[in-house]
Amino acid sequence: MAVTTLRRLRLRTAVRSLCPHSTFSSPTTDRLLSIRPHRPFLSPSLGQCAFYSRRLHPRSDRDKVSSPTIPERLPFSKITQEDLAFFRKILPGRTITDPDVLEANNVDWLKSVRGFSEVLLRPQTTEEVSQILRYCHSRNLAVNPQGGNTGLVGGSVPVYDELILSTALMNNVLSFDSVSGILTCQAGCILENLSLYLEERDYIMPLDLGAKGSCHIGGNVATNAGGLRLLRYGSLRGTVLGLEVVLADGRVLECLASLRKDNTGYDLKQLFIGSEGTLGVITAVSILCPRKPKVVNVAFLGCETFEQLLQTFQLCRGMLGEILSAFEFLDSECMRLLNTYLKLPNPITDSPFYIVIETAGSNLTHDEEKLHTFLEEAMTSSLITDGTVATEDTKIKALWSMRERVTEALTHDGFTYKYDISLPVEQIYQLVTDMREHLRGKAKSVVGYGHVGDGNLHLNITSSAKDPTLLAAIEPFVYEWTAGCQGSISAEHGLGLKKRNYIYYSKPRQAVELMGNIKAMLDPKGILNPYKTLPDNLN
Ligand code: FAD
Ligand code: LAC
Ligand code: ZN
Repeated sequence: MAVTTLRRLRLRTAVRSLCPHSTFSSPTTDRLLSIRPHRPFLSPSLGQCAFYSRRLHPRSDRDKVSSPTIPERLPFSKITQEDLAFFRKILPGRTITDPDVLEANNVDWLKSVRGFSEVLLRPQTTEEVSQILRYCHSRNLAVNPQGGNTGLVGGSVPVYDELILSTALMNNVLSFDSVSGILTCQAGCILENLSLYLEERDYIMPLDLGAKGSCHIGGNVATNAGGLRLLRYGSLRGTVLGLEVVLADGRVLECLASLRKDNTGYDLKQLFIGSEGTLGVITAVSILCPRKPKVVNVAFLGCETFEQLLQTFQLCRGMLGEILSAFEFLDSECMRLLNTYLKLPNPITDSPFYIVIETAGSNLTHDEEKLHTFLEEAMTSSLITDGTVATEDTKIKALWSMRERVTEALTHDGFTYKYDISLPVEQIYQLVTDMREHLRGKAKSVVGYGHVGDGNLHLNITSSAKDPTLLAAIEPFVYEWTAGCQGSISAEHGLGLKKRNYIYYSKPRQAVELMGNIKAMLDPKGILNPYKTLPDNLN
């Protein structure tokens, strides 16, 4: 610990003495002159739907549509006493109808959407999931698959009275091969528990996110979650080797083969990765896990401008090479929210931008030398203005929490309009700047943070309460801006209920139609997670 503290102090002192804020100037500023002011592309409105006005209904209103922006209830059957008797028979003690218990499953993590399900099913095995879906298919009952309910786009909770099928009790590790690093587990394993399980065996999960304490691996796969390690280990589309999925009619699709290579025709598991519970219920996952790095360092750095932050990213990629495992950012507005609501003190001098860099490698001397050489270069080129480095676990966690807990801090600031945008990396902060200018004081806070290494911006706008005028100012502006840069309106959170009708900003009509065909083939009655992901005309 003494060494860590010393190193942190040395870096901070060095940074300060080399780059006093008052005389800051970067000799490398013009390296990134390709950053151009963005002109929003005003496309015709495609399938737009002014959502977000759903309010908490009184229970007696549960069958009414309180807002024209929520889709009409589709003609699914209503649950009867006979249905309940069937579920109680196959899931004794695990068919929940107590409204108090159901409350947490009906409301999303953001407390922004609410469903009115009266039945929560908690299967333990794939066979039970299969029985449930076979029955629901025959009875035309709608089903909402649910993992840890940490999703951010309203996909994880019912819209009306869909049955909630929770994977919470499907939480067993099925096998782990310590030679290949391939883990096979049930879908309801909590991500953090899997990480702890693997760390004891000198491995780690290839993904990590702020919701790790609650989200399930099945939910991660269903949303194709990105997170903090994607830069190093790639997306779940590469690390997931196999899936077991129960189809809408109860058939079990066993694609769980734990092979690195398998070119026997279409890779069907890819269909279910990122399908948000609309094509099947994922019951087991086989995933390739990296070895646990022997040495981890985290640097928390301050930057004067976003251009300098991008130059630091370029420098960092070149100088840290294979040991770079994360490059994340937050702006000073995020820091203000962390200070105000979570009482997390800024570990360095106040700056307009902050960077979290993580290195993960196998040789202490080599890694530290590389990191120090990089930091020295970043300081002498005046790219960073202050910084601190942690090598010890608790300090590393403390620095990471400055990035991981921004989402939580935002929930205390008011009602949050969340946008998860993929853009060419050099344009990601321009959207925040343009949005601030565009809203001109209409919002409480406009903040930007995210995964610089993946070109993924989290743009969040808060107001003290839901505000339709503010929303009308944000949308479709944000989507048009994104489409104008050929970006994606959902980089990693999915479309869920909230973004489903904006899909056309990022996908051609023909591609969306093909998605509809696949949905109709795999779930002809549309019972799986209705009203989600696909636009209304295809649901
Ligand atoms: P849920 O929220 O329960 O469900 C999400 C969707 O998946 C729903 O559509 C649901 O129907 C479906 N689903 C769930 N389980 C299954 C299953 N077994 N089979 C089929 N469908 C299923 N996301 C990122 O990508 N990167 C981040 O860095 C990140 N950080 C986050 C930080 C916080 C604090 C929070 C609250 C969320 C964050 N998220 C992030 C959002 C992310 O999508 C989820 O945290 C996670 O992937 C969802 O897993 P879950 O088990 O909670 O799924
Ligand atoms: C994050 C979530 C919001 O990156 O995706 O913190
Ligand atoms: Zn994210």
